[in-house]
Amino acid sequence: MAQVPVNVTVTGAAGQIGYALLFRIASGQLLGADTPVKLRLLEIPQAVKAAEGTAMELDDCAFPLLSGIDIFDDPRQAFEGANIALLVGARPRTKGMERGDLLEANGGIFKPQGQAINAGAADDIRVLVVGNPANTNALIAQAHAPDVPAERFTAMTRLDHNRALTQLAKKLGVTVSDIKKMTIWGNHSATQYPDIFHAEVNGTTGAKAVDDQTWLTEEFIPTVAKRGAAIIEARGASSAASAANAAIDHVHDWVLGTPEGDWTSAAVVSDGSYGVPEGLISSFPVVSRDGRYEIVQGLEIDDFSRERIDASVKELVEERDAVKQLGLI
Ligand code: NAD
Ligand code: LMR
Repeated sequence: MAQVPVNVTVTGAAGQIGYALLFRIASGQLLGADTPVKLRLLEIPQAVKAAEGTAMELDDCAFPLLSGIDIFDDPRQAFEGANIALLVGARPRTKGMERGDLLEANGGIFKPQGQAINAGAADDIRVLVVGNPANTNALIAQAHAPDVPAERFTAMTRLDHNRALTQLAKKLGVTVSDIKKMTIWGNHSATQYPDIFHAEVNGTTGAKAVDDQTWLTEEFIPTVAKRGAAIIEARGASSAASAANAAIDHVHDWVLGTPEGDWTSAAVVSDGSYGVPEGLISSFPVVSRDGRYEIVQGLEIDDFSRERIDASVKELVEERDAVKQLGLI
């Protein structure tokens, strides 16, 4: 019997990440070569025509796994029956905009989307928020979907994770496949903490293999944490193909599992692990088993790491408090 297609809703479908993402989903890279998908694209009315153009191109690829494309400008319709939701569309910060304005503008997007997910998504819905500020946008959406288990809302730090792998591999002259157990802690922002103390490289830890505190504090951590800004500076636009790639990795591993002997990084709802306040959507080391991301437990956190995790978590608490004050959660 033919397999029922998985409904994948993508918001911001006409944007630059959308353009890099949709073809990979339709080709089978998100859910595997045996799983047909149906795309449900959400855009603002002004960008629906551009999304239609992308849909024409998707048609023109004749992907065997793509069993349909629907385009909406209404979240209620777009999330109806969604099994997977990639929330990419967000309000970028523009000149003169304060952080509070940005959070408020995004609240106007992620609150109704959370409500629409609550109202109509499939029982197995899994949500990945990519649009920035991703962790707090995920928190807003989750707060408005009380009937959906909170653990189904996640935000993306997989791009930071992948960036950290490559920076460490280059430093050590190894390949990314030689490195296991990289971790990104905290917020997808410049306060994030890429941790190589638990990373494993050819029988030792990343930190021991590097054995260079100056490189760690003055090069590695800031390079990974500020990579998004460096790409904007160089490209004149924020990362798109690498962000789409990370979104594919995040959902692929969530649904199909992380490899044995390794873990990855994702911003998931905290259960209080590692002193991160319960309910915050913060990045942790995670494994995926049976379709669920679980926080890796029992890691020893030294003072160096503690200070940096706490700083990023403090920023998340401030963002949460700001959206609370705005009545968004
Ligand atoms: P973009 O401006 O090219 O595209 C965004 C699209 O979202 C636009 O087509 C816009 O019309 C659409 N949109 C806006 N409001 C919407 C709404 N309410 N519903 C549906 N669609 C809506 O931006 P992009 O480069 O694709 O980036 C998208 C977001 O991803 C940005 O917020 C960016 O900062 C973020 N991002 C996150 C990461 C990460 O690692 N978490 C990495 C890169 C970019
Ligand atoms: C990135 O990490 O590349 C983006 O989140 C940067 C941005 O501000 O869009």
